[in-house]
Amino acid sequence: MCEAINTGDPVETARRASHYALRRRTLDRMRSKTTDLDAEPMRIDPVIYTSADFAERERRAIFHGMPVVAGLTRDIPEVGDMMTFDVLGPSIVLVRSKSGAVNAFRNMCPHRGAKVVTDCTRRTRLTCRFHAWTFDLEGKLIGQPGKEGFDGIDKAELGLLPVPVAEEHGLIFVRLDPAGEPIDVAKHLGDFASELAHLELGRAEPIRRSEIPCEANWKYALDTYGESYHFASLHPTTIGQLAYSNIMIYDSYGLHARLAFPRAEFMAYQDQPEADWPHTDYGGLYLLFPNMVINVNAIPGVGQFYGISRVFPGETPDRSLTLLSTYQPAHAGGEVNVAKWAEMHDFIQTVVTEEDYSVSRDGQQNLRWAPEGFTTVLGRNEIALQHWHRNLNAIMAGRN
Ligand code: FES
Ligand SMILES: [Fe+2]
Repeated sequence: MCEAINTGDPVETARRASHYALRRRTLDRMRSKTTDLDAEPMRIDPVIYTSADFAERERRAIFHGMPVVAGLTRDIPEVGDMMTFDVLGPSIVLVRSKSGAVNAFRNMCPHRGAKVVTDCTRRTRLTCRFHAWTFDLEGKLIGQPGKEGFDGIDKAELGLLPVPVAEEHGLIFVRLDPAGEPIDVAKHLGDFASELAHLELGRAEPIRRSEIPCEANWKYALDTYGESYHFASLHPTTIGQLAYSNIMIYDSYGLHARLAFPRAEFMAYQDQPEADWPHTDYGGLYLLFPNMVINVNAIPGVGQFYGISRVFPGETPDRSLTLLSTYQPAHAGGEVNVAKWAEMHDFIQTVVTEEDYSVSRDGQQNLRWAPEGFTTVLGRNEIALQHWHRNLNAIMAGRN
């Protein structure tokens, strides 16, 4: 293994080996001006973007039935840290318990249903603001003013309602539907786990977070992340300056995927031997089914950042909400200029809002009024989107 890859630290070595392998393949594609392709184009029925019935079935099968990422480990690092996760409808509260594990509950008081947590400051007990019932970090009722009023009800029945939760690789998963087995992260991630492990998401520090509403179906918004075909035309002065259009490397990991686009700066050393390549922090895009994109990228001259987008369905099929959060990887060093990461966050937010999502909004309106029999088409070069839609179709048809 070349010196630039083998650092002596096994995680850093795995990360570099992965990045170099990606860059090797990307440079091959750049030189030959080709891209990874699917077998044939794929037709998409616009009803999946516009139908209220489909949206409802999808919400139950995917967003309530499958594990969804509610946050990252360092969003709630210390005992008593908590966050709410409300974007899918029912309010969920996640707390770091005394054992260090994360507990998740419906944020609903067993007394009369009030929200128990409305501000997320660190504390060791949760007190409902309505009548001050108090719960510990395990959700157990430990304080009940005027408790004689509730004689005859077993206190053990009056705890917070748990929600399935699991934390691995720095990701906190919840499943809104409490029925069934506990969340099996290893099964859900499959081979993707080893590719995620070297990102050390569990040590990544949150820098900035924002919400981006979009007047389009969550899939129309998400579809803008999975191809580079549009870079030159839609992003001529932004992303189009940083990466090449219509060249992509694609790896499928069952439901999940990783892809990479050639960075403009790769061109400068495309003919040099690998041992002379400069270090890069570019690691591609990780697509975690159903709705999460992790952009592993570099701020030139500063260090690596993780730009995380999670796209959620809105109240109606033609609305969605994206939670955009930027993290600083642990290996980007302790001495950092936080303002630089925040600046990158704002740049991504502007591009997504003003360029990608404005197309999604217009396209969504057109699909609403699409003539009978009209289908959109994904090219062979839109391979990541094709695979993603095939996975969606399989789940919606009950085949997964
Ligand atoms: S609703 Fe929470 S204590 Fe009454
Ligand atoms: Fe884009």
